[in-house]
Amino acid sequence: MHNDFSIFAQRRAALVDIIKSSFGVEQGAIILFAGFEHEHYRYRQESSFYYFTGIQEPATILWLDLDGTATLYLPNYGDKRAVWMHTWLLPTQEVADQIQVDEIKLLGALSQTFEICPLLHTQEYEIFLQRLRMNVDQSRHLFTMTKCMLMEQRFMLNQLAAHIPSLHWHDAGPHIAKLRRKKDQSEIEALYKAVNVTMIAHEGATKAIKPSNYEYEVQAAIEYVFTEAGSQGAAFPSIIGSGINSTVLHYRENNRQMEMGDLVVVDIGAMYDQYCADLTRTFPVGGKFTPRQREIYNIVLECQEFIAGIAAPGYWLNNKEQPDKSLNHLAREFLKQRAHYELPHGIGHFLGLDVHDVGSSAEPLHEGDVITIEPGIYLPHEELGVRIEDNYWIVTGGNVCLSEQLPKSADEIEKMMAE
Ligand code: GLY
Ligand code: MN
Repeated sequence: MHNDFSIFAQRRAALVDIIKSSFGVEQGAIILFAGFEHEHYRYRQESSFYYFTGIQEPATILWLDLDGTATLYLPNYGDKRAVWMHTWLLPTQEVADQIQVDEIKLLGALSQTFEICPLLHTQEYEIFLQRLRMNVDQSRHLFTMTKCMLMEQRFMLNQLAAHIPSLHWHDAGPHIAKLRRKKDQSEIEALYKAVNVTMIAHEGATKAIKPSNYEYEVQAAIEYVFTEAGSQGAAFPSIIGSGINSTVLHYRENNRQMEMGDLVVVDIGAMYDQYCADLTRTFPVGGKFTPRQREIYNIVLECQEFIAGIAAPGYWLNNKEQPDKSLNHLAREFLKQRAHYELPHGIGHFLGLDVHDVGSSAEPLHEGDVITIEPGIYLPHEELGVRIEDNYWIVTGGNVCLSEQLPKSADEIEKMMAE
């Protein structure tokens, strides 16, 4: 839990301002829905909800009135939840003050169990529904994310629409994405932490990369570090692809036995304070690249260095109207010329609360963006795949590589494996 929730209050104030000025309205509300927990998965808060609240609790709803007041609605679990789950978010003014919202209210009547599911049992939502209906009746403008959301949030919106037929939402999504794209100091610090843990995990990986070891042993070495370092674990399923699997972009089985002479693509990221790292290195099983592997490796590395050398405000991650200013097009052109190779994925993506973070590619890069640069060459007929990925913070005139300290040249990689 955070000690200081003021950053979340500041972000809500910025959202209210941007919505009021963009839509030219004074009255209304922005309503954001948390996700729902499921026993198959560890709960991970929906990123935009987290960005504006700092709250990890599922099934909660933020009502952010355009007059600036914020209400957090909690399911009414009575005393059931505390028996099963660690519970601190209670509907008291003391907790409201701590998390810097104006008030915490219950959604409705007592829930049947210690969890609530996305099926709208109306009595469990009756207090929230009353307020929503009153706002609809008064024709106040209502904003939420209408497109970019989790499935269960979409499900919730559909059920609310069925319940209140005249309910109309304006889409706050693009404005939220714009705010989330520009990282503030606290976010850069969290990203640095996630990157640091991930760099240590790559070092741990090298110890488990040996002929006859299995890919999952490498995964275990990595995720041990993630857990030991106090991170929230893997930001996405760890990709440990050896041999032919090095050519499968999102390979996740991680169950092949590695052989001498294989390459292994290790594409991993820790999540720290809810922020994701995403770093890829390619290692030779046995510790030495073959001349052919080194040749391909060096082309990928040169491509990454070329793109990292120009990534700056004014360039686009991807813009087909302006290919000479588009990192994606420039990387493709580079690989086409150097290796007659067609890159099968984008050169990079925004990074933040989500591993593939929000942000419009129609906007050029700005100070405060964080992106990945991750060229690769994948040759299934040679069972040879190479990807190199680092994380970059865009600043005035250029960028700062957050993962600068992770060894990268072929010689450094061999040295890292020998240590
Ligand atoms: N780390 C996997 C990806 O960027 O798609
Ligand atoms: Mn990536």
